[in-house]
Amino acid sequence: MREIIVFPDESSQADGAATLFIADAASAIASDGWFSVALAGGSTPESTYRLLATEPYAERVDWSRVHVFWGDERCVSADDPQSNYRMTRETLLERVPLPAENIHRMPGERGPEEGARAYAAELAAFFGSRWPAFHLVLLGMGRDGHTASLFPASQALQVQDRPVAGVTAGEAGGRIARITLTAQAINAADHVVFLVAGVEKAATVKGVLEGPPDQYPAQRISPTSGRLTLLLDREAAQRLERTKWESGQ
Ligand code: 6PG
Repeated sequence: MREIIVFPDESSQADGAATLFIADAASAIASDGWFSVALAGGSTPESTYRLLATEPYAERVDWSRVHVFWGDERCVSADDPQSNYRMTRETLLERVPLPAENIHRMPGERGPEEGARAYAAELAAFFGSRWPAFHLVLLGMGRDGHTASLFPASQALQVQDRPVAGVTAGEAGGRIARITLTAQAINAADHVVFLVAGVEKAATVKGVLEGPPDQYPAQRISPTSGRLTLLLDREAAQRLERTKWESGQ
């Protein structure tokens, strides 16, 4: 099931994303006793993370039952300004009462291959013998249609049998090497949510949603049995033809 919600601006989009996070957390904790969420990197989700750390949002989450993972991480130290972990720590993790043992950081500093193996072991330790199935995966989308660190040229797009893969700098279009969840791991989630904002993403959003299939990595994201939600601001949605998706908050 796919849902597209268009918000008038980035702040209402952040409110929508934070409200969705709270609802998914409450539902997962009620049914399973815990909430496993893989956070997105990049800049778009920052406003959502900051909002979640403030009242009245923060008090509506039982942080003691939340387990935080990442969709991808750059191969840098945890304190590097490029680190997705550092961004999430500064905007959210250090501002809410989340137990340290509930933070399952991707060890980017160990490099793409060793780091991917280590993270797969971390997922196995948490999910046991079951294939990792997050309650919620938050994703961004690049202008080239990449998501997490599934770039157009990356071998990680072809990985079918592992939940985590390494991405070399070359595969990442000259960006820094990364570790990423594979499409198969993301698609096993109960709920996958894209957060996309800005006019510079409008052409890509149109291509991903209304263009031919298999053109963009983001088109590989199709939850096996879970829900897919796209939270767009009006700018990112401006080239979509399907006016039925207009449902600003
Ligand atoms: C990363 C992200 C990446 C990001 C997109 C969009 O590590 O860079 O995981 O997939 O979500 O590149 O980035 P912006 O939100 O900054 O546009």
